[in-house]
Amino acid sequence: MTTTFPKDFLWGGAVAANQCEGAYLEDDKGLNISDVLPGGSDRFAHIVAEIDEENYYPSHEAVDFYHHYKEDVKLMAEMGFKCFRTSISWARIFPTGEETEPNEKGLRFYDELFDACLKYGIEPVITISHYETPLYLAQKYNGWASRKLIPLFEHYCETIFKRYKSKVKYWMTFNEINNTLRLPYLAAAIDIKNNDTSWFGDAFQASHNMFVANAKAVKLCHELMPNARIGCMLSLSNVYPNTCKPEDIFETYNFRRRSLFYSDVMMRGKYPGYSLRMMEGMGVKLDIRTGELELIAKYTNDYLGFSYYRTSNFASNVEMKYNTGGSVGIDNPYLEKSDWGWAIDPIGFRYTCNELYDRYQKPIFVVENGLGTVDTIAADGSIYDLDRMKYLAKHVAALREAIADGCDILGYTWWGPFDIVSAGTGEMKKRYGFIYVDKDNDGNGTLKRRKKASFDYYKKIISTNGADL
Ligand code: BG6
Repeated sequence: MTTTFPKDFLWGGAVAANQCEGAYLEDDKGLNISDVLPGGSDRFAHIVAEIDEENYYPSHEAVDFYHHYKEDVKLMAEMGFKCFRTSISWARIFPTGEETEPNEKGLRFYDELFDACLKYGIEPVITISHYETPLYLAQKYNGWASRKLIPLFEHYCETIFKRYKSKVKYWMTFNEINNTLRLPYLAAAIDIKNNDTSWFGDAFQASHNMFVANAKAVKLCHELMPNARIGCMLSLSNVYPNTCKPEDIFETYNFRRRSLFYSDVMMRGKYPGYSLRMMEGMGVKLDIRTGELELIAKYTNDYLGFSYYRTSNFASNVEMKYNTGGSVGIDNPYLEKSDWGWAIDPIGFRYTCNELYDRYQKPIFVVENGLGTVDTIAADGSIYDLDRMKYLAKHVAALREAIADGCDILGYTWWGPFDIVSAGTGEMKKRYGFIYVDKDNDGNGTLKRRKKASFDYYKKIISTNGADL
């Protein structure tokens, strides 16, 4: 069994349009749901489906990738990136989501971006919807809770597949689709108007509608681009039982299945029995139309893309409100934590890769992993981000072990190779980048890019194909 990375391993980085592009109304772009999210750690508590002039909205300028992309791609090329994951902002292409004709200026931007990547041999890896449902669709239909979005999404997919088929070989449908249960507003735009919390029924229906849309996207992708691969994408940071009490073990297993049910449906093509029982227990009755289950069964994803940042602990006496560990876990005394309280667990990363590959026996793709920290600029202007380098080294070593364990892993894209806006808090202070972007939480700064120490470190990892850590 190999103990090194495959020679065509896709090293790279990942971002999302709404967290980096800015230019939120430029070239006829429409608003998307992220554009009405104010900054702040409690940003989800203040959702109103329109712009309030009193608020600061981090996505509006973000780090202005829309105008800096050439410079950023060049820097990523200097690090030796083989791929770059970003999303297409749906509302750049269809400003309300309901137009029949796409916005040519939006399409042209991504043409130019993909060309800039390809010029350096960087493969674009594209998320079709990364927390970027057009706001209009959220307001009019309550987002994915309505099946009206299925044909609109299909039209969007067909448009971008036809346009970029010679440029993009790796696609993913919905970013962290399982967050429909944890962050329903971001992932699927549920109850945007009244911020109601009794959204479980809508959230599961939204998930079903997205499963149908995912299957339709797979079908279209394979028809239009036989050489392309299309994955699904989940948030799969992991969770451990807090004790060896059998109840804790089983409830943790069940808790994990609140996430894995999403990949079970899209990778295996069928609602697993436990998911039907779970929904029944919650009083959820899905509206499933004729032919939809057959579609889901026939058009499964080619690979599983996932994010992994951390683990947390779970016990049977903890309320099981959401899905994976992250937000509701108990501290693990064996692990150190990041500045934002996320437990750092490289063995959990190896464990997760094995768990997923064992379960699906189809390629997996680590499309997000990284460390958000506060960076300190030294008097000479340098940034020595040792914690980030340590995190990177340990996680790449764990990945190498997972490959040696037999996992088929397509690539690894570090989250936020240049600093971007945090999805969870809207902060700039929570930085993931190898490249520093001069901008603060209040929106001040020159947007100037500068390399951190981790820039050369990741460059070395890539140039040695993960051999030199
Ligand atoms: C993932 C999302 O959940 O985590 C990204 O797909 C997000 O959009 C990333 O940025 C890190 O989370 P945060 O809150 O630190 O930005």
